[in-house]
Amino acid sequence: MNFPQQIRAEFPILDRRVDSRPLVYFDNAATSQRPSCVINLQQELCSGHNANIHRAVHTLSFEATGYYEAGRRAVQKFINAASADEIVLTSGATMSINLVAECLARGGFIGCGDGILLTEAEHHSNIVPWQIVCEHTGSHLEVVPVAAGRNGANDGSVDMAAFCAALQRGVRMVAINHVSNILGVENPIKEMVAAAHGAGVPVLIDGAQGIAHRRVDVQALDCDFYVFSGHKIYAPTGIGVLYAKREWQHRLPPFMGGGDMVGKVSFDKTTYADPPLKFEAGTANFVAGACLRPALEFAAKVMESPAQEAHTGRLISAMNEALASVDGLWVAASDARKRIPLWSFTIDGVHPLDAATLMDKFGVALRSGHMCAEPIVDRIGGGSMLRASLMPYNTLEEVEIFRETLLRTVKMLRK
Ligand SMILES: Cc1ncc(COP(=O)(O)O)c(C=O)c1O
Repeated sequence: MNFPQQIRAEFPILDRRVDSRPLVYFDNAATSQRPSCVINLQQELCSGHNANIHRAVHTLSFEATGYYEAGRRAVQKFINAASADEIVLTSGATMSINLVAECLARGGFIGCGDGILLTEAEHHSNIVPWQIVCEHTGSHLEVVPVAAGRNGANDGSVDMAAFCAALQRGVRMVAINHVSNILGVENPIKEMVAAAHGAGVPVLIDGAQGIAHRRVDVQALDCDFYVFSGHKIYAPTGIGVLYAKREWQHRLPPFMGGGDMVGKVSFDKTTYADPPLKFEAGTANFVAGACLRPALEFAAKVMESPAQEAHTGRLISAMNEALASVDGLWVAASDARKRIPLWSFTIDGVHPLDAATLMDKFGVALRSGHMCAEPIVDRIGGGSMLRASLMPYNTLEEVEIFRETLLRTVKMLRK
């Protein structure tokens, strides 16, 4: 694959203009754009195969079910799960984490006095579900610090000594991000899983930001749960993944009750379907589920291309230089040796919301605010930051537009 021209041509939205200027879409960590293979399948399924899956014996239902289950198998292949049955399809990473948290609590795996270990740099989706569990069970959070901030180390690394020490304090669950949506730095998840398992503690990995930028092999990682959202990796919104090791699928109680998750229903007793359907109550988002197949096949092709790696390396260098050229700009985890193409930053004398609003007027889409990770953004960014996040379809020319626009914006806004 030729980078970035050939891959870019697959994304019709990248040709659009915003306020008569070419769109520079640098908000990919919020949601990525969709290639034509995904858009075409969405359209084809709606116009030719729409039906409820798993239930009826008619042709359309068989076809829809086939497409949906092909989506599940594509996930299995992409993350190298041992079996497609270990893949639960949800509405997104948020639902996947809520499912695990709620089922662990209801199943009695987390109780009064137990600890749930997180890092300081988690997304709200990997904080709040566990806080709800704490409220219901009397368990508590153990929060491990990361090296980020203006004073001291700023490489985004997790304090592994604190992590290992916390594991010895009655922790019953570890839930950590693969890559933080603020820092852009990959955590040593293999090492963290091994340490947690050494202490007899299961691990959930929030892969929402890792999945599009790092190859994931859940068997090699040996994690108990790995979650991500389709829309962060070329698929539509409204579909997500929960990889759960087979043994956990059998140990956990069902999450929601309803159609499709049952064996036999009577008023006296209801039995449940085998996993993964045990966790998939109600009518599924069949179109989005089916689109996981072209999305992940596309992602695999992109990730396996050596040209992509070189291109992303050039994007990262150019972005580092662009950010360094702005006076008074501070980047979170700027000392990281390796990062995904994601940077959160503040600029002295410029409010992030004003900057993002003005940048948009010049066609550049950035994220601003607490970015659903208030605890870390409060500590390192005063409650609000700017974030630029790129995908392999972004170009060096766009980085240059970003740099020029940022310099112009800062000049206009700085008090
Ligand atoms: C690290 C991380 N975890 C979880 C989520 C939640 O994803 P979703 O809103 O698609 O469920 C996000 C979304 O930005 C994220 O960045």
